[in-house]
Amino acid sequence: MVTERHGAEAPGTSDQRSGRQPGDRAPGQVLVASNRGPVSYSLGEDGTLTARRGGGGLVSGLSALGDEAGTWVCAALGEADREAARRAGGTLDREDTGGQSVRMLDIPAETFDAAYNGIANSVLWFVHHMLYQSPLEPVFDRGFEARWEEFQRYNAAFAEALAQEAAPGATVLVQDYHLSLVPRLLHTLRPDLRVGHFSHTPWAPVDAFRLLPDPIARQVLLGILGGDRAAFLTWRWAEAFAACCREVLGAEVSDRGHELHVSHDGHTTRIGVHGLGADAAFLRERSARPDVDERLASLREQIGDRRTVVRVDRTELSKNIVRGLLAYERLLEDHPEWHDRVVHIAFAYPSRQDLAIYRAYTERVDELAAAINERFGTADWQPVVLHVKDDFARSLAAYRMADVALVNPIRDGMNLVAKEIPVISEEGCALVLSREAGAFEEMGDDALAVNPYDIAGTAEALHAALVMPSGERADRTKRLAAAATALPPQSWFLAQLSALRA
Ligand code: G6P
Repeated sequence: MVTERHGAEAPGTSDQRSGRQPGDRAPGQVLVASNRGPVSYSLGEDGTLTARRGGGGLVSGLSALGDEAGTWVCAALGEADREAARRAGGTLDREDTGGQSVRMLDIPAETFDAAYNGIANSVLWFVHHMLYQSPLEPVFDRGFEARWEEFQRYNAAFAEALAQEAAPGATVLVQDYHLSLVPRLLHTLRPDLRVGHFSHTPWAPVDAFRLLPDPIARQVLLGILGGDRAAFLTWRWAEAFAACCREVLGAEVSDRGHELHVSHDGHTTRIGVHGLGADAAFLRERSARPDVDERLASLREQIGDRRTVVRVDRTELSKNIVRGLLAYERLLEDHPEWHDRVVHIAFAYPSRQDLAIYRAYTERVDELAAAINERFGTADWQPVVLHVKDDFARSLAAYRMADVALVNPIRDGMNLVAKEIPVISEEGCALVLSREAGAFEEMGDDALAVNPYDIAGTAEALHAALVMPSGERADRTKRLAAAATALPPQSWFLAQLSALRA
């Protein structure tokens, strides 16, 4: 077990903290567990901690529950978070969290690094997004084995914290690949709890999943199957998971229409799908604020009345930003009529910079954008406007002015950018969308589909998007926006919850 400070706490302490009597039944209580929590800290030179709150479906979903909202268990991601977790000595100050009860686990830095960087983001993420260059990687050696040990410790720390925090009969929503071992561990510690797991990523097809050493592949699947229900963003990922259970574990899979049932070793886990949508009300309100207007005005000044191809992503290997730039370059080669008439607005915000391959990828994006500008740019036309510093208001400004949205991931659990841009683009936008994005299942009919590896094909799709007649663009955008907002974050959260409790 991890030497995490709450580990030694006696069960019941959290009940005292929340004013509940041990033994009180709170069947309505809902807990959430995720690696990245709803708040993060920075540490000033004078030792003051500043909290910064995030948003998203889980935050708004949990806040809709009122009294039922239990603790959100997350990991301290860096030194400042660790310091905040230590100072709080339990759940964080509610002033920092917007009233939510949050327990941030002070997991030792080496354990966290091995689990988060070494396994979750360098192995599980790579397997599910099929990112390996297989002649040289992956290599499952002794170093991997040691990191896997830490990954188990990190998952155990979550399971133990949840077991302490949960009231009898409570419901626990475990998020993502980082915590794939938690459902089984938690079920063993607290069989009274109802446990669901949600994957925000794609799930690997059987052949890709089988890159993992057999015992590890089994452990991941059994970890998730240890809960009552596992949910995914699309049927494609749900079916891939079920296929892995069938092929790797020999589990039995039955189709119950709205759910799949996976039975193994006397336990049945229900598999469901909830396709997270965009939050139209929030986006419309937020994108109409003055800070967004200001940024829109300055982008407009820079770009003039040229057409725009917009992309907004984390600088994430799976987002395929490099091939997106190559496709834009190919568009300028093959269709010189667009010279001086189009600008590619590419916002690529820093992500996972502790991993060397992400740093190298970020550099490549930078170099390529500069090379395109060098090759095609003129005194008054900069073909690519690349920004690498995160600025939410500027992203919304770019969404508003998008004529074409470029969303070309190698693989993606859903991709919310594809859903958000049609909701707030002012003139209507044509969506160039990878067929490998989860969003494609709901939005493919009105998007221009691309194979994310095909540069010429993507360049032609960009051209088709740019010449799409405005009437058709507006009609498609209306349908795209309707599909994108079919299941807004709060409903997404509540739907999972009621399906899990059913
Ligand atoms: C994906 C994952 C999330 C993760 C996010 C950002 O969407 O599904 O679990 O939080 O990427 O990645 P990061 O490593 O910065 O938390």
